[in-house]
Amino acid sequence: MDSIEIQGGIPLKGRIQISGAKNACLTLMPVALLCNEPLTLTNVPRLSDILSMSHLLESLGAEVQMLNEGRVLTISAHKIANVLAHYDIVRKMRASFLVLGPLLARMGKAEVSLPGGCAIGARAVNLHISAMRDLGAEIELENGYVIARTGSRGLFGNRVSFPETSVGATENTIMAATCARGETTIENAAREPEIVDLVQCLRAMGCEISGEGTRTIRIQGSPGLTGATHGVVPDRIEMGTFMLAAAITRGTVELVGGEACLVSNLINVLEKAGIAIDKSAAGIRVSSSDQRLQPVDVQTAPYPGFPTDLQAQLMAVLATANGTSEIVENIFENRFMHVSELRRMGARISLHGRKATVEGVEELKGAPVMATDLRASVALVLAGLAAAGKTVVSRVYHLDRGYESIEHKLRGCGANITRVPT
Ligand code: UD1
Repeated sequence: MDSIEIQGGIPLKGRIQISGAKNACLTLMPVALLCNEPLTLTNVPRLSDILSMSHLLESLGAEVQMLNEGRVLTISAHKIANVLAHYDIVRKMRASFLVLGPLLARMGKAEVSLPGGCAIGARAVNLHISAMRDLGAEIELENGYVIARTGSRGLFGNRVSFPETSVGATENTIMAATCARGETTIENAAREPEIVDLVQCLRAMGCEISGEGTRTIRIQGSPGLTGATHGVVPDRIEMGTFMLAAAITRGTVELVGGEACLVSNLINVLEKAGIAIDKSAAGIRVSSSDQRLQPVDVQTAPYPGFPTDLQAQLMAVLATANGTSEIVENIFENRFMHVSELRRMGARISLHGRKATVEGVEELKGAPVMATDLRASVALVLAGLAAAGKTVVSRVYHLDRGYESIEHKLRGCGANITRVPT
């Protein structure tokens, strides 16, 4: 398992190219299962999660072609050979559960392993299952698998009202509804930019959908979608992570291809903390002064609220603020795994249920630390960039799931960071 070594204390200065969004791409890839013509995706990030989704689609019978060094994917599902999404793939990557809706819609049957628990919380799939039932699917749970069938009537359009917001359940429902008979209305839909991107792709494939980015989405089912080419939206979490990297090192970084409207909540938080954010010709510029940052209180919430996927990175930044901040994690019940590792670097953080109290210290100290999940790992990298001395982050395979060439991008801004293969 590789580790990452960082000699901290260097303010980042330079430009970073933002990649396509991992979470959007993982949702767009299963869309190809809905039609027998090829779907081409451009601006694809080069990440291990994308390879895992490619393997899953290939195991179902799709042909996946990677072009332009993996930045373009053409997925052709003219023939689907089987409808089983195996435990070995789904347990590693929860996004695999997104093949449920498309398989059910196209094949009338799907057998998808339950994702099970993961490091950041239980992550149930009850909302996905109840939505598929609303569209007419019969669902049983057998030996850890969700066995879904449409019955003789196929899927039909219906009203799906979510009691809580779920990104994945909204996505699965949209995809299933594209092939259902009649109109589906999703109430309390998730409003994330990745949902908007999914709808734009489906529209390019001939589907009639409205309301993306609002709480109510309407989908007209249609029997045949056509192939299309679609560019993946920029990764707002990667963008936010590098904005926070600039802030924690008191640096100045231009994010090329960054779109401020995707991270407006983070921009508010950073401006309160004392960081200047401006639109630039190429994207977004993040500039720091040499003053210590001001503390800020933040609660995570579904989009357009503060993203849970940036909570760990923000905590690393506030650990060096001039005062005490409070962070409340409202999305996942156990997403504070980074706290004990940040404490090893001198951070003063106490936990009270879903609330973390972060008392800023003047300086973090380098230490050996261990990554526990994707966003926790990158929070430790950020802390290492700012800390005095050497930080070694082990188990960095988590990072490779979601950050393309992170050492390379940070080195381009002056960071002293190297990957050590073991
Ligand atoms: C997606 C993102 C993930 C992000 C999360 C929240 C992808 C591939 N992943 O995950 O990076 O952190 O949104 O922004 O896009 N829940 C239920 N029952 C369900 C479904 C969800 O109780 O059937 C709960 C979850 O346990 C969690 C909350 O709802 O507490 C939000 O989960 P959800 O929005 O579904 O997240 P994901 O789609 O899994």
